[in-house]
Amino acid sequence: MSCFYNPVKLKWGPEITKDLPEIITASDLNMKNVLILTGSKSLKKSGKLDIILKSLNDRRIFVCDGVPSNPEISELCGFKSETDKLNYDSIIAIGGGSVIDMGKCLAAFKNLQINGYSTLKRGIINKRHQNNSIDIPIVAIPTTAGTGSEVTSWATIWDKENNKKYSIESERLYPKIAIIDPTLTMDLPLQLTVSTALDALSHALEAYWSKRTNEIVRMYALMAIELIIKNLNNLIDNLNDLNLRTKIAQASLYAGLAFSNTKTTACHSISYPLTSKYNIPHGIATSMTLANFFNINKESIIDKDALLSAFDVEEISQIKNKINNIFLKSKIPFKLRDYNIKEEDFDSIIKRSFTPDRMNNNPVEVTRELLREVLKDIY
Ligand SMILES: [Fe+2]
Repeated sequence: MSCFYNPVKLKWGPEITKDLPEIITASDLNMKNVLILTGSKSLKKSGKLDIILKSLNDRRIFVCDGVPSNPEISELCGFKSETDKLNYDSIIAIGGGSVIDMGKCLAAFKNLQINGYSTLKRGIINKRHQNNSIDIPIVAIPTTAGTGSEVTSWATIWDKENNKKYSIESERLYPKIAIIDPTLTMDLPLQLTVSTALDALSHALEAYWSKRTNEIVRMYALMAIELIIKNLNNLIDNLNDLNLRTKIAQASLYAGLAFSNTKTTACHSISYPLTSKYNIPHGIATSMTLANFFNINKESIIDKDALLSAFDVEEISQIKNKINNIFLKSKIPFKLRDYNIKEEDFDSIIKRSFTPDRMNNNPVEVTRELLREVLKDIY
């Protein structure tokens, strides 16, 4: 029996952020003391953050900025001790996936007495947040188009010292409302625009072939892939085109909805050591192996022709060029050697590539030998 579930209320459209006060008021959410989380300096610089803050002037607002990308447990610990003393009842997270993830992590541990790094780390490993104590509503306002965190129930937190990545997950961590305003993505630089869009492409493709896929997941995934393939190359040439930004924001949302029901597969699993140890941006690291896994998974993919047509190709062998052309056009390095990875590093990458709930979700079993072949191919 198939099932699709996503409880996030969606509001979207250019300039929709202006309606934030009305959107909150119309919801049943108790948001009197609001923690505003953000990381983006450009949002501040552009004056957009000020406009949002002014619009909320009938509420008590605590602003907490400087959320870093790919936040670590130690940074979560810092944000937690900084915000614990604030008596906030809700969170508005305005930023990329890392900001929204930080909002989820703070909400997850808000009511748990956890002092200090090691107890917080133990709490994350032992999933202490998975009780029913999370009662902080989150409103997510993404300023990038790709991570999908605004429609998922999990967050990523890194332990760079040990090159590990943890997932915080709970039904209670779905944002209550996601506000998708493509105008907020207008100032994104080329590399971030492309890497986040490729993250969305990975979410869509991996959701499509995931073991947990179903008809509705595949419908969203196909729409996302088609929008990205049709519009990303044009956007690379026209970063100020709001219409193209809107299409990619839409694609990111559809991809997010698709993988919110399946989680990701081998490509994301392999990406984690590439990001944590070699600093390859997340969406680049996940998309480097998409063409390889398309080929590896081909016999298990349902309605392969629909997928090929969304990519606007006739053969699986053409997928690699399609993705590599996006890298080449945006001058983003896409080989492991470009990121100072040596063949001697493969053993340690392979060792850290097996995140069970992602790798076991790949429709074809991935062995260490198979993974080595993939790494050689993208070397
Ligand atoms: Fe991702």
